[in-house]
Amino acid sequence: MITGGNRLNGEVTISGAKNAALPILCAALLAETPLHLSSIPALKDVVSTIKLLEQMGVKATCNADKVSLDASEIHTKEAPYEMVKTMRASILVLGPLLARFGHARVSLPGGCAIGSRPVDLHIKGLQAMGAEIHIEHGYIEATTAHLPNKRLQGARYYMDLVTVTGTENLMMAAALAQGTTVLENAAKEPEVVDMAECLNKMGAKITGAGTDIITIEGVDRLSGAVHNVVCDRIEAGTYMVAAAMTGGEVKLLNVRANLLDAVIEKLRDAGATVTSDTDTITVKSDGKLKAVNIRTAPHPAFPTDMQAQFMALNTIATGVSKVTETIFENRFMHVQEMQRLGADIGIDGNTALVKGVAYLDGATVMATDLRASASLVLAGLVARGDTVIERIYHLDRGYENLEEKFTKLGASVKRIKGLTG
Ligand code: UD1
Repeated sequence: MITGGNRLNGEVTISGAKNAALPILCAALLAETPLHLSSIPALKDVVSTIKLLEQMGVKATCNADKVSLDASEIHTKEAPYEMVKTMRASILVLGPLLARFGHARVSLPGGCAIGSRPVDLHIKGLQAMGAEIHIEHGYIEATTAHLPNKRLQGARYYMDLVTVTGTENLMMAAALAQGTTVLENAAKEPEVVDMAECLNKMGAKITGAGTDIITIEGVDRLSGAVHNVVCDRIEAGTYMVAAAMTGGEVKLLNVRANLLDAVIEKLRDAGATVTSDTDTITVKSDGKLKAVNIRTAPHPAFPTDMQAQFMALNTIATGVSKVTETIFENRFMHVQEMQRLGADIGIDGNTALVKGVAYLDGATVMATDLRASASLVLAGLVARGDTVIERIYHLDRGYENLEEKFTKLGASVKRIKGLTG
């Protein structure tokens, strides 16, 4: 429950990125000796990934934000439906299992609240490296038994669409393939770069991560390493929007402004003052915001994972804005909930037309996916009276200590037990 109206002031420390932590945890499967990670956020998706790895035989040791993973002995090369259905990122075990052990059985992820989200490009990329893949009984069955030395073979592969986890899966697979792989139209997201850095510390030979052509020279074996996960730019962006909407002043610690260029630009357009140095960003605003048009696209353009939060900002800004979602179909589920708070939003295909209103009114709303939930928190922070958000397990998948962090900044946020969330 959020009681709106408080200005946010103070400092907040940004956690390690969920979207870097999940693939890098899966990369532990490639290593014959332990991988030691730090800045691993305490999130439900992280716990689920570690459980998935443990049921394969990985030995995990967790201590605060540090996780060590020993994949020297793996007894199951399978990711069961029960685990994959709760978290699509489980598909990230496919590449490493196949590359190191020559076979893998991974459940298809199935439907997802924010659109169909297929994994065809992950599969086609592995096939380009010679893997034989069948879909049977809802499972992806992959093998390299017929290939020279039973190993994946380096290949040139052009990805039809920019896919983040697809790029990561193929990068991991190619790291242990025989020969050189070139991934074209690769995702340039900072989390892809972070994973490439970690893989290189493990002995991989990857160049070009952060550009749209990544070259991976396969090696025979990978070992463990020590790696600190990059900061969560989406968590950071969410607190930045919160500061702007509430007319406060918030300093973010442990963050890199250069990962947030598109978001910072839009916040400035909206009228907030944003300053930064090496590892901090400060956002200051008088709460009088101008509506800003948003169009999501792959990095370095505006991230789809910040679309819902900017929609919340636009609901109370002066003017009319267009918010266009180009990455996922059906990623406007927050719109109906925001309308319950009094927002004026119309949808036409993949574009939402938002007319700023003078104020939002607290109400009970339902979280539908991770970033939609975050946008409802932001709306609740400025709404009149109480906003109750149900099904907050979505938030626990992606925001570490959300209510503690917001409370420390002066918000009135309480977790109420006994409701559906
Ligand atoms: C990742 C992020 C997610 C973010 C998204 C886009 C993780 C764990 N999750 O998700 O938070 O919202 O990037 O920045 O890092 N597609 C296909 N075929 C494929 C793969 C993707 O058609 O084989 C499509 C998807 O349906 C979608 C688009 O490509 O329309 C981009 O998806 P993708 O980048 O793969 O998203 P994820 O990696 O799942």
